This record gives sequence, structure tokens and C-alpha cells, in this order.
Amino acid sequence: MTLRSRLRHMRSARRLAGTAAVLIAAVMVGMPGTARAAPCDTYGSAGTPCVAAHSTTRALFASYNGPLYQVRRASDSTTLDIGLLSAGGFANAAAQDAFCNNTTCVITIIFDQTSRHNDLPIEPAGTAGPANSGVPADALPVTAGGHIVYGASFSGRMGYRHTAASGVARNGQPEGMYMVTSGTHFNNRCCFDYGNVEVPIADTGNGHMDAIYFGTLCWFAPCNGAGPWVMADLENGLFQSNDGFSKNAANTGNRAPYVTATLKNNGQNFFALKDGNATSGGLATRYSGALPTSRPGYSPMHQEGSIVLGTGGDNSNGSIGSFFEGAMTAGVPSDAAESSVQANIVAVGYGGPSPVPGGNLNPGSTISLRATTACCTTRFIRHQNGNAVTSVITATSPALDKDDGTWIVRRGLASSACVSFESRNFPGDFLRHQNFQLFRQPSDGSALFRADATFCQQAGRSGQGTSFASFNFPTRFIRHFNNTLFIASNGGPNPFDATAAWAADVSWNIIAPWTPWRLLAGGPLFRRIG
Ligand code: AHR
Repeated sequence: MTLRSRLRHMRSARRLAGTAAVLIAAVMVGMPGTARAAPCDTYGSAGTPCVAAHSTTRALFASYNGPLYQVRRASDSTTLDIGLLSAGGFANAAAQDAFCNNTTCVITIIFDQTSRHNDLPIEPAGTAGPANSGVPADALPVTAGGHIVYGASFSGRMGYRHTAASGVARNGQPEGMYMVTSGTHFNNRCCFDYGNVEVPIADTGNGHMDAIYFGTLCWFAPCNGAGPWVMADLENGLFQSNDGFSKNAANTGNRAPYVTATLKNNGQNFFALKDGNATSGGLATRYSGALPTSRPGYSPMHQEGSIVLGTGGDNSNGSIGSFFEGAMTAGVPSDAAESSVQANIVAVGYGGPSPVPGGNLNPGSTISLRATTACCTTRFIRHQNGNAVTSVITATSPALDKDDGTWIVRRGLASSACVSFESRNFPGDFLRHQNFQLFRQPSDGSALFRADATFCQQAGRSGQGTSFASFNFPTRFIRHFNNTLFIASNGGPNPFDATAAWAADVSWNIIAPWTPWRLLAGGPLFRRIG
């Protein structure tokens, strides 16, 4: 045997051994009495070990029994690490519920489950965005493996980052990654990413990032359909192909409630993108081919080996999204390994908790709010161009008016004894006051936003319906005045504080929503912001 044929022989033997290991790992999934091969076991046995593994829902190694994430509660700023119910199992969400009872918690760290400690603390300011907040810890209750656990729900200005991570690809080294995200919560702002980013929180040039992006920001037209799409954020561009734009007419996006998205990149001249429904079936290859060469810097790549979750490389942080789990590998994972990981994710059985009935103030309920003042009983609280106003809405009104006039009740962002109102058609945006006027705005996670977006319900001040006192200005109530919404006191310095009709103007009927949850695209109700 010549040296060359011996090498070829050894290479194909190694490939076969890798494939066999993946098959064995795949067979182990669901085998009674056998520890499940979790995603990082599969990648490891295929010769592409995880160098980072993050999840708020479950262990990504069958033997992992450490913490998944850390929460900090608002009442006394103390923290608690949330671990697993059992080794290799699911998050102990009950521990979080007990710790955060009667206060609110944010996730301060998502721990790395590999031995490399590539943990993800909250991302500080970067050149393109101010410092981030942690995600509210109970925003996204879902079921996994039959247990209630929490996903991470990102509004704008939320993100996590580990600078100069250990073992993550640098300067043209090969790598792979996946995340489980959602096709029901996304936007077209930069950049809901998970993956490899710069050491400084700055754009240091083409090819200095290699991260999965998921959303509807079509950086290079054309993109097909309405999205959201899996793309490769390679810095200064979200790529669906070597030329940036989509070359795949079938890839119109993925709106499944749970989406698996993968990216692999050999760092030299090849990358591939796949996605699939995280609850059934396999992965579809959206692109597999050359790295961009028409623009400089991407072939070879220049990754810097830090890790981001929820923002772009320079901390562009206008994006929203959901994250349940994800991992990064050293080396390019085989298609067999990726299929096996997808099978394992499907076996988890991600799902939503039971839908909450609408028309009441229970968290998760979808409602509309009707004015009770005699002038205005056909008028409802809705948002319009970001302002909160009242409009006449009837059964024959356009769908947009109905969507704008529908709100999801959330546990109060600043107090679980009160409520917040999330926009039905702008997920992550809330009714909040600013200079005493009410607006629809994206949560920035700040204490001020949380307080401004929290309202405490009490019997209607006119004797009918319900009134909502501002959490941080408790003598002021949500009021309509000239069809615009304010927080108003009963007499005061502003025209909208006028005493005439005050009691009626601050009393609202809570009714069944104009747009029940199921009428919007995107799957079952499962989102709750607390
Ligand atoms: O590549 C898209 C974005 O461009 C990156 O995430 C960010 O660093 C830059 O603004």
C-alpha cells in the first residue's frame, strides 16, 4: 500500500468510525434504561466536540449535572443558580419559581455545560449599542420532556457575551453550531445571533464573526418569502449564500413555534445553513457551498473566538428572539451528527403550556379594553404609530385595528401583584407611560421601563369595570382624554388631570380580545413576560 492510499484508507476508516459512533448515539436516543445521547455526546462521538453548550431548559450532555443558568431577583438583588432535576435531565424551574415568588427575576448568566467555562454573562455596551439587560427569567414557560421549563425571551437591548472564549474557532479554524429558537418571536432589526464574535465589542471587519442569525433582516436582497430565515452572520452581512442573497426559492422562512437552526463553516472555503421544525422531522439544507469571495475577508475567515447570544458582533441590539438551547463545536460537524442532534431535540418534545382563556386579567390571557365613559363605549385602547389611543373598533373593522386593539396580560414587569400589557401584534412591546402619556414601546429591560409598564388593577373608580393605577405614580390611573391615553390624577396640573369625567375615563371593561391568539400566524400561545 502506498503512503497516499494508506492515508486515504485511514481517513475513510475514521469517517466510518465517526458515522458508526453517531448511529450508535442516535440509537441510544429513547432506548429504555440507557442514558440519552444528548447533542454534545453526539457531536463528541463524531469527532467534533462541543466547546460551548448553553441552555435554560436541559442538559446538553447525558452526564451533565451542573447549573444551567443564574437568576437575580429584584427584591434583594440576590442570585440563585438553577440546576437540573436529575443528571442529563431538565431544568428545575420550580426552584426558580420559589426564589422569584412575589418579585421579578432576570437571567444574569447562562452557564457553559462543557468544562471550558464559556459562560454567558450579560453583554456590556459595544460600539453599536448600550449595555444590555438580562432576559426576564419567567418570560417563556414551555414544556420539555414533559416538564415546565423556561426559555429565554429577548426583547431589544438584551444580550449575553463571553469574551475570548476557550476552544472556540479563531482565524479560519473550522466550527459548527446550532440553536433551538422560535419562528413566532422575531423582528428585522440587527441581530438575533448565537455564535462566534469579536473580542472587542465592535465590528472589526469582514469574516470576524461566524454566528447563526434568525429573523427577518434581509441584508442582501432578494430573500424569498416573509421569513424568518436562518442566516450566517459573518460580520458586515447576514449571508444566505456566498453572494449573500438567497439562492434557494424553497427557503421562504420557518415559522414553526420551535425551530432548530444550524451553521457550519470550515473557515476556509465552505459554509452550510440548515433549519427544521424542532418538534418533528429532519433538517432542510438551506445553503451548502462556498464562502463569500466577491467581498474580501470571508475566505478564509478571521473569527476571534468570543461568543454572543442575542445581539450582533458590535452589540447592535435592536433584535428580539427566543433561545432554548445551543452549542458550538470544534470542527465541522457531519451531516449525520446534525441529523442525530435534530432527532434528539425532537425527542425532547418542546411544547407550550395549555393556552390561557382570554378576556380576564390572568397572565397569558388575551384581552381588549373598552372605555366606559358614555361618549365612548365603542372605543378601545389600541396603539397607533407607537402612541396609545382609543379608536372605535367594531366587528367589521380592519384586522390591523383589531390587532392593535388586542393586548396580552403579563404578570407586572415590576410587581407580580400587578399587570403589564404586551402588544398582541408587536411581541416584546408594552404599554408604558412617559411624561404621563402612554405609548407602545419595546421593553429595554430597565427598572424604569418595568415600572412605567406596570399597572395595578382595582375596582373601577366609577363603580363599574376595572381601573389601573400606575405602579410608580399610584395616584395616577390609565385614562383616555381626547382619545389619547395618559396616566391621570383626579385633578392636577395637566389638562388630562381634569376632574370632569375622570372616574368614568379611568374605568375600563375587560372583554374578550378582538384578535384571539390563534388568528395571528405563528402557532400556539406560549409566551409570558413576568
Ligand atoms: O453582520 C451584521 C452585523 O453588522 C453584525 O452583527 C454587526 O457587528 C455589524 O453591525
